[in-house]
Parts: sequence; C-alpha cells; structure tokens
Amino acid sequence: MQPVLWITSKLPAEVVEPLKTWADVRQWPTLEENMPHEKLKEVIQEAEIIWTIMGDEVSRELIESAPNLKIICNLAVGFNNIDVEAATEHGIIVTNTPGVLTDTTADLAFTLMLTTARRIVESSNKVLSGEWNYWGVNQFAGMDIFGKKLGIIGMGRIGEALAYRTKGFNMDVVYHNRNRKLEAEEKYGFSYRELDDLLKECDFVVLFTPLTEETKGMIGARELALMKKTAILINVARGGIVQEQALYEALKNDVIWAAGADVFEKEPVPVDHPLLSLPNFVALPHIGSATLATRRKMMDMNVESIMSYIEKEEIKHSIN
Ligand code: DGY
Repeated sequence: MQPVLWITSKLPAEVVEPLKTWADVRQWPTLEENMPHEKLKEVIQEAEIIWTIMGDEVSRELIESAPNLKIICNLAVGFNNIDVEAATEHGIIVTNTPGVLTDTTADLAFTLMLTTARRIVESSNKVLSGEWNYWGVNQFAGMDIFGKKLGIIGMGRIGEALAYRTKGFNMDVVYHNRNRKLEAEEKYGFSYRELDDLLKECDFVVLFTPLTEETKGMIGARELALMKKTAILINVARGGIVQEQALYEALKNDVIWAAGADVFEKEPVPVDHPLLSLPNFVALPHIGSATLATRRKMMDMNVESIMSYIEKEEIKHSIN
C-alpha cells in the first residue's frame, strides 16, 4: 500500500503530480485560504508523510494524535511551528529547507533597510494618493545607509550573506550570536558585540535569530530604549522575537526612528494592528524567500526528503 502524503497547502501541479506514482497524495485544494488548524488536526491522523508550511502549528498534541505519522517536511528553513522534541520522542523525522533561501532572504533584509531608511513606502503612498502637492527641503528626508553601522543579531548563513551585501555600501558590521563566528569575522572583517552594546552602537539592527524559548520577546521596551533615536530595526526572522506593543510605543514616541518587518506574531497580520497605522513602520507579508526560483528550490528540497523517505534512503535535510 502506498503511504498517505498530506500536503497542507496548494502547491503547483508540476511539483505534486510526479509524487502520485509513489504516494497516496492528498492536498489542501485552494490558494484562497490556508488550511485551518482544525483541518490540520484531522488530516494529520491519516498521514504517514505530512508536507507543511510555516503557518501550520504541529504541536505535541497533534503529533501524539497521529498514529501513522513518520515524517514532517516543512516548506521553510525555520521550524518553530513544529514541536521537534515531541517528534523526535516519537521517532518522527522533521525536515526543512536550509541553504537554498539564504541569498533571497538576505536580499529582502537589505531591501527593507533601504526602504525604511529612505521612507520609500510612505513617500510613494503620498504620490499615489495625490497628496504630493509641494516640494520641501526636508520632505520625506530619510537616513543614509552608506558608511553606517549595521548590527546583525543571529549570525548564520543569512546574516553572513547580508554582511557581504553591505560591502558595497561601506558599512561597518558588528554582530551578536550565541557563539562567536571567528572564520566569518576574518572573512568579512566584522566584529562581535554583546547584545546591549550592539543595540547602543548601531544605525541598523537586523534580526535573524530563530524563534526559540530563549529569543522569544528578546527585543522589548528595554532593548529598544538602548537603541539610538535615529536607529532602524529590521525583522525578517520571526514575529515573536520582537514585542510588538513595545515596538509600537517606541516608533510612536520616537524612541527609535523606523522599523521594517516581514514577520509578525500572528500572520496574516490583522489590518487593525497598531503597527500598521504608523508611517515609520514598513510591513511585508512574510516574503523573505519569495522568489519563483527560490520557492521552487525549497519545494524540490522537500520532494527530495519525501522521496528519500519512500525509497528508504538517507534523508539529507533532517533536523532531528
Ligand atoms: C523560512 O524559510 O523560515 C522563511 O521564513 C519562510 O520562507
């Protein structure tokens, strides 16, 4: 009998169809909405293989309710949506998509730095709404990027790729990480800082840490108050790392100058979220890895894991 493969989102037919030779493929049918959690609870009980996206919360409770589940393939490099400890305890393999989205996500982080610093969304909106009715010397005046200091919190592959991009902008790069990256320090010429020192010194602070118990809420009112009044905070990692109410207060009260986020505590972010009302906040809909080529590579990597499982071969991208 073929293993039941549940795909929790609507993926392109050219990716899904070939799998039908090997598995009993069942798929969430629409692009209009994501699979509700109640439905996930139901389908996980049928699945031997489940192909999830980062919005699917695969908790211990769900894992323990899934009698046939053997492998969870997550269409993301981050895996905070999956209780990996529970999966491991139950002998369930968890896979992700490392490496293939590094450059694409670093590009987006840099885009957000430029966009927030130069007030691109705010000023473009004025043009589009017909409210650009005079030219003023400080109108839409932003912050420079060239020659400024960038602090990267969480120096993994994507952090390094961002550091590399800043060379052409003559930026001074410092970083904070759980452990020192001596090789990368030498290669790119950046240096290590304790978190508070990084926050105090930098013009741009970019977050790349995974969301864990340790990093949850790590940027709150105290940390924001340490930053320069002219500083910009960028989050392309996970929403829960920044305390959103504290960020709202900091932006509204000019504690920091601007912020950009591709990620939110709750996604899709509700349109009445206070942060969305601020002109110095740029919001994106979690598009860090969203280029056609990269999303395809991520899907291919998941397919490789699924096929390795089916063919009883070594699974290269397993987390546990
Ligand atoms: C990831 O891969 O973790 C991104 O956040 C989603 O593409």
